[in-house]
Amino acid sequence: MSTVPPTPVQAYRASLLHFHADPAFSLDACLWHEDGLLIVAGGIVQAAGDYARLFPTLPAGAQVTDYRGKVIMPGFIDTHLHFPQTDMIASPAPGLLPWLETYTFPTERQFGDPAHAREVADFFLDELLRCGTTTAMVYCTVHRESVDAFFEASEARNLRMAAGKVLMDRNCPEFLRDTAESGARDSEDLIKKWHNKGRAMYAITPRFAPTSTEAQLQLTGELAAAYPDTFIQTHVSENADECSWVKSLFPEARSYLDVYDHYGLMRERAMFGHCIWLDERDFARMAETGSAAAICPTSNFFLGSGLFDFEKADAARVSLSLATDVGAGTSFSMLQTMNEAYKVARLKGSYLPAARMFYLATLGAARSMQLEGTIGSFVAGAEADFIVLDPKATPLLARRTERCNNLEELLFALALLGDDRCIRATFAAGRKVHECAGAMTL
Ligand code: GUN
Ligand code: ZN
Repeated sequence: MSTVPPTPVQAYRASLLHFHADPAFSLDACLWHEDGLLIVAGGIVQAAGDYARLFPTLPAGAQVTDYRGKVIMPGFIDTHLHFPQTDMIASPAPGLLPWLETYTFPTERQFGDPAHAREVADFFLDELLRCGTTTAMVYCTVHRESVDAFFEASEARNLRMAAGKVLMDRNCPEFLRDTAESGARDSEDLIKKWHNKGRAMYAITPRFAPTSTEAQLQLTGELAAAYPDTFIQTHVSENADECSWVKSLFPEARSYLDVYDHYGLMRERAMFGHCIWLDERDFARMAETGSAAAICPTSNFFLGSGLFDFEKADAARVSLSLATDVGAGTSFSMLQTMNEAYKVARLKGSYLPAARMFYLATLGAARSMQLEGTIGSFVAGAEADFIVLDPKATPLLARRTERCNNLEELLFALALLGDDRCIRATFAAGRKVHECAGAMTL
C-alpha cells in the first residue's frame, strides 16, 4: 500500500502587507502584520497573519524562512506593456505618432522570427521578476510567433500572464499588417492554444482604433463575445493628435472610447491603456460596462501625452490600475511607476496616498482583471505570487525609512525612492524565481 506524501509547507516570516479594499473608499483597507507569517503549500496561500498566532499552527517539518526586517506583499501586477519594445525603451521622439513610426514599427518587425521573439521574451520576463512584477497584461506583435514565444517563456517560469497578438490592418507599414479575417483567425487559434493553459490567459489585442478597419473591429468584437472570459486590451485617448485622428477616421462616434463601445469591446476584462482625454460620459460608460483603466504615468510623461484625471475616474468609480507601458514607459519598476503616478495626481490638483498606490499595483489590478481571489492578495486559496521588499535597500532608503513614523510614511518612501534594488526576492506559485544578487537567505 502506498501513501501520498504530504505537500511540503513553506512559511515566511516578515512584515506582511496586503489589501482587502480600496484605501480611497475604505478606512481599514490595508492588512498589515508587523511581525507576520505567510504560509504556502503547493503554490497556494494557506494563511497570512500574525506570526504569534500562526506559528503554532504549522505542521511539524514546515520550513520557515526568516525575512524579518523586510516586507512581504503580493507580487506587482502591471496591466499594460509591450514585450517587443524592450530593446527600444528610451528612444527619443516628439510624441506618440512619430515615436511609433520611427522606432516602434521597425522594432516590432523582427518578431516574426521565433528565435528573436523568444530571446526578448526571456529577458523581458526576467526583468519583470527582478522588479517584483509577477503578472502583466502584455502586447505581443502582429506575428502569431511572438505570442507563442511569449507564452512558452512564461510557461517555463510558471507565471500568470495575459498576452495577445496585435491586430492591425491599416495605417501601419505593410510588413506589420494582418487582415480582418487573418487577424481574427490567428487570434482564435491562439485562444484555443493558450487561454487558460496552465497560468496563461489570452488578451484579444486590437492595437488602437486608427490601425484597425471597421471590418477588423467588427470581427474583434465578435471574437470577444464568443470568448467572454478572455481579456481585451487596447489604447484609448492617450495623445491629442491621436484623438483628432480618431475623430477624422470615425466621424460618427461620440468619442474615441465610443468607437470601441460600438464594436462590443467594452466589457468586464477589457483593459484600456491611458484614458487621459476621456470625459465624464466616457468614465461613466467604463464603470457601467466593468471596463478598466490602465494608468501609465512614466509613458505619459515621456511622450508628453497628458495627465490622468484620478478625481474624474474616482467620481465614476472606474476600476483603476497602474502600468508601465514599456517601451514608451521608462521603467519596468512598479515602484518607479508609483513615484510618477503620485506626481501626476499632484499636477492635477489631487492626492494619491502611498497605500492607494500599492493597492492599485496589487488587489486593484487583480480586481480590474476579475482575478480577485486568484492573485493580488494573501487571501487563503490565492496563488502564492509574492515579493520580499527591502526597506533598507539603498543607503538613502535606510536613512529615510528608519525615520518613518507610520505605515503610510514607509510605503511613501518605498514608492518615491524605491526601484528594482528593493526587490530582495520574487516568488511565483510558491517557487523562488528571482533573488537579488548578493542577498543571503537568513
Ligand atoms: N498607441 C498605439 N500603439 C502604441 C504603443 O505601442 N505604445 C503607446 N504608448 N501607445 C500606442
Ligand atoms: Zn501601450
